Amino acid sequence: MKYISALPLAATLAAAQMQVMSLAPAPSGPTVHTVTVGGLKAVSTGMAPVLGFSPESITAAVGDSVEFVFMQKNHTATQSTFAEPCKAMEGGKDSGFMPNPEGKAGVTWNITVENTEAQWFYCKQSTHCGVGMVFAINAATTGDKTMSVFKNNAINKNSTKSADLGLAPIQSVDPAAAAAPSTVTVAAASGTGAAAGSTASVVAGQGTDPAGNICGCQCLCGVNSFPQQAAVNNFGGFAGMLP
Ligand SMILES: *[C@@H]1O[C@H](CO)[C@@H](O)[C@H](O)[C@H]1NC(C)=O
Ligand SMILES: *[C@@H]1O[C@H](CO)[C@@H](O)[C@H](O)[C@H]1NC(C)=O
Ligand SMILES: *[C@@H]1O[C@H](CO)[C@@H](O)[C@H](O)[C@H]1NC(C)=O
Repeated sequence: MKYISALPLAATLAAAQMQVMSLAPAPSGPTVHTVTVGGLKAVSTGMAPVLGFSPESITAAVGDSVEFVFMQKNHTATQSTFAEPCKAMEGGKDSGFMPNPEGKAGVTWNITVENTEAQWFYCKQSTHCGVGMVFAINAATTGDKTMSVFKNNAINKNSTKSADLGLAPIQSVDPAAAAAPSTVTVAAASGTGAAAGSTASVVAGQGTDPAGNICGCQCLCGVNSFPQQAAVNNFGGFAGMLP
């Protein structure tokens, strides 16, 4: 799991910097697994909501806890069943709606893992489950009850799209790709700085957290990408500041 924070910017040449920090190694004893729910991501036209959990599948021991950190916009972590991914399980766990339109820190909901059985979750906000906003604890890694099959079922059963979305790959990492991050170039807003009109690029990276889960990050680097003071003290993202 990684946190991304934006740093304060110099007044003139505003090079947007995002720093990636690793979590300190977990102390011995029960582990707290941090799962980010929703948030925003950079796309070529600005910022778009993330309709997903990150990581979307974890392995946890009895006594561990899972801390769901809710970011933009308004999501839930609701327990379902493997058979019906997008339907609340009777008597299951449910965070309820956790709106966080500005992406502030501290909107969390925690559960304790009581056994090693697989537990399945989804977001019950409108169509989110149907686009694959699902999460699992201790899903099988082989056979017919994997996270990948669960997510595929959520999309197939609850999607309003008829598109053939196929079997979504779950956290598969090509080591070569991880070593050589791809670069997506987006046009930066024009500004008054010396280098106005330069382009900004989004650089993707991937790694592994101390628990062995695959995690990813996106860094936006460029000129005038953020207004002065934007994002200072925000955690994980912020709304409404980019075109
Ligand atoms: C969050 O979503 C639920 C369900 O759509 C809605 O009832 C609730 O008003 C929303 N909360 C906010 C603050 O937008
Ligand atoms: C998903 O589809 C099932 C029926 O296949 C339905 O019971 C459930 O309410 C749907 N969930 C959502 C979030 O649309
Ligand atoms: C969840 O656990 C984290 C870390 O143990 C703690 O900081 C946070 O306050 C907890 N949140 C809730 C809602 O209990």
